[in-house]
Amino acid sequence: MERFWRLVWMTGMSLLATTVQAVDPLARLQDEHSYAQPERVRIRDLGLDLRVDFSTRQLAGTADLGLDWRDGEARELVLDTRDLEIVRVLGRTEDGDWRKLKFELAAADPIFGSKLTVSMRRQYEVVRIRYRTSPQASGLQWLEPAMTAGGKHPFLFSQSQAIHARSWVPLQDTPSVRYTYSAHIETDANLMAVMSADNMPDETRDGDYVFRMRQPIPSYLMAIAVGDLRFQPISERSGVWAEPATLEAASAEFADTEKMIQTTEALYGPYRWERYDLLILPPSFPFGGMENPRLSFITPTVIVGDKSLVSLIAHELAHSWSGNLVTNASWKDIWLNEGFTSYVENRVVEALYGIEQAQMENVISQNGLKEEMQQLAVEDQLLVLPPLTGRDPDEALTDVAYIKGQWFLMFLEQRFGREAFDAFLRSYFDHFAFQSIHSGQFVDYLRAELIAKEPDAISALELDAWLYEPGIPEFAVAATSARFAAVDAARSDFLNSKATAADLPTAGWSTQEWVHFLEGLPSRMDGAQLVELDAAFSFTGTRNGELAQRWYPLTVRSGYFEARPAMAEFLKRVGRRKLIMPTYEALVDDPDGRAFAREVFAAARPGYHPITTASVQALLGSDTAPASP
Ligand code: BES
Ligand code: ZN
Repeated sequence: MERFWRLVWMTGMSLLATTVQAVDPLARLQDEHSYAQPERVRIRDLGLDLRVDFSTRQLAGTADLGLDWRDGEARELVLDTRDLEIVRVLGRTEDGDWRKLKFELAAADPIFGSKLTVSMRRQYEVVRIRYRTSPQASGLQWLEPAMTAGGKHPFLFSQSQAIHARSWVPLQDTPSVRYTYSAHIETDANLMAVMSADNMPDETRDGDYVFRMRQPIPSYLMAIAVGDLRFQPISERSGVWAEPATLEAASAEFADTEKMIQTTEALYGPYRWERYDLLILPPSFPFGGMENPRLSFITPTVIVGDKSLVSLIAHELAHSWSGNLVTNASWKDIWLNEGFTSYVENRVVEALYGIEQAQMENVISQNGLKEEMQQLAVEDQLLVLPPLTGRDPDEALTDVAYIKGQWFLMFLEQRFGREAFDAFLRSYFDHFAFQSIHSGQFVDYLRAELIAKEPDAISALELDAWLYEPGIPEFAVAATSARFAAVDAARSDFLNSKATAADLPTAGWSTQEWVHFLEGLPSRMDGAQLVELDAAFSFTGTRNGELAQRWYPLTVRSGYFEARPAMAEFLKRVGRRKLIMPTYEALVDDPDGRAFAREVFAAARPGYHPITTASVQALLGSDTAPASP
């Protein structure tokens, strides 16, 4: 297209996009994944009193909802639930009596669960719900002792984001509502319970625990874990909770956590949540990490012995500003959480581990984004996503939110200069602290606080391209890495038979260099080459999931069957979705691999989290064996 016409076309597209996306703030605040009606009534405080029963795999007890009525006419409280058994609903009168209230639990929607409608003649300030969770609750995983590091005690953990809090607490399960909470948790006397709240490192272990979270949080940040947990301090205000068998290695790997807090504070203002601890989960945890306030949940798969994967901690910590403090009001604006967090994460990595480390991580993630972008529908390539009506937010989450979001902020930093952009971001976190916002609010703030001061630094077209157009803008500046140039040279020497694998200059390579080496190999190779690589570098059987995730699919596509036993062991031991899905994906593309994948899945499934099970099952199709009892 001629430049002029292209410009006209682009301007038209952008205007359209701008008018459609940004003009209607009320529509943008709507959460299409919740039945709640926050304009009428809002939960302001939650009180939980729950018994954690490992023999029945249930939580049972009460949730007291302290309400803030916004509409004088309203006489209904509409809540989100999934697979909950609602026993009774009561309203508290001024003199402290409890009155029974009528309620109706609607038929379950497969994605959103069951709408719970409580009807009342007047507006009660506190509504108490007595309930029980299902052993299949999508937001909880109950682990047999055999699936833990110690092997002796059972383990329970929650994963509430995006819409799984409703499977263990009846509430307004939307990030647009924030509330404080307290909890009384009873469990076996020899187990420790922790929550996304004020965990006390030297609490006596007696099976009876109380928690308080004084800062208002959205429901997706509700979290609980119960198991044989011990604590080791990192600093005055931070430390690690883990099973005894993992505690030592985890504390060593994450020893820089206090430095990370200080670095982030220096950039973006004080840490507002008092303590910051890490909880190391069993390997079935379906994510890398989860930013539960005051207590990030962390996969053990990043404990590789050389701190090379600790950017994960920087990421979850960064959410204490981007996400937990300033929160996306609905999941279509998740880039406000994940894009800002990926940006902050990389800044912390740069400050603590140097620019080369930060650049390597950026090249890897930008390559990943480019790859993923090719598979995505046009509407999923936008930073400011259209409403996700009828879609499971877990399935709509892509690198667009994370990496296109980060890339956009890096673009702003380049154009406005680091100093001005840092000051802007810091004031953004202060300005919107403890609020849930949509993309338009960010854009307005950006225009007022940054663009207005230096109007020529970026054009309206550029801004619109990032926010409202698919793909990666052609003017985006890609990350580069000098250390990766050396990796590229080594790889091509090997591929062109100029050097044997054993002779490659790989001494001192970190995880990122190995990842880049593997990612640049052809998608299929001959057996002899894989044997040579394996003999030199022992990829098969690696304990580093970032390498396994890239090596095993290559062995599948290349028909290198020797890797199969170790591959099966990896797929059974690890439940972190991102690490195992690429191998399953490679296997289903191959007729013989498909049967092997089914077999491995059948064996691994009892140990997988419901989220991982759902992803693998969606891939393998419906003819997979039913869950073993
Ligand atoms: N908040 C996310 C995890 C999440 C997102 C869970 C959406 C459910 C729905 C967490 O902060 C995260 O992004 N984890 C990443 C690690 C990160 C370093 C990219 C993960 O788990 O891979
Ligand atoms: Zn995140």
